Amino acid sequence: MTARTVRDYIRTIHDFPHEGILFRDVTTLFADARGFRMAVDQILHDHTGQRIDKVVGLEARGFILGGAVAHQLSTGFVPIRKKGKLPGAVISEAYTLEYGEAVMEIHDDALKPGDKVLIVDDLLATGGTAEASVKLCRRLGAEVVGCAFVIDLPELGGRKRLERTGIPVTALCEFD
Ligand code: PRP
Ligand code: ADE
Repeated sequence: MTARTVRDYIRTIHDFPHEGILFRDVTTLFADARGFRMAVDQILHDHTGQRIDKVVGLEARGFILGGAVAHQLSTGFVPIRKKGKLPGAVISEAYTLEYGEAVMEIHDDALKPGDKVLIVDDLLATGGTAEASVKLCRRLGAEVVGCAFVIDLPELGGRKRLERTGIPVTALCEFD
């Protein structure tokens, strides 16, 4: 019997949130002690040797992963959230999703010029969310040293789009 990989813990739900979408559900990965630890440890391994001052997690599942990664690195954690959720003064970036449109926001004092940032999220699809997040970090003067995902959906082109920003992109597994 071969050992389970991170990919094996991810569940697929058909037609969520819209007909025709195969939703890659990481709640089954996060709910499993071994699977969750494996995912966090592999993200840390992929970014070994990089100086990281802050982990930036993207709403919502990037908060769960990013919080664990920040704890392991002993760095602070900074949330990037959907419009209207953060209580303080924010800067905003609009973007398009695989299914819809959204605006992401960060507190305008959450990062300092020169901060080295690792962006963490569960999934890379079109790359719109992550690209908007890179822009937000850069507008605050931070340097994004990497973008870490559990899942890449290569057919949606997010990795190519993000790599155009010059930032190293890592993902633990791929789905069609
Ligand atoms: C998902 C996922 C990423 C984003 C990726 O979040 O967690 O954040 O979509 O898509 P993209 O690469 O095409 O931008 P979702 O929009 O479902 O939000 P949620 O985590 O708040 O449910
Ligand atoms: N976000 C965008 N596309 C997604 C998908 N297919 N599964 C889970 N989250 C997503």
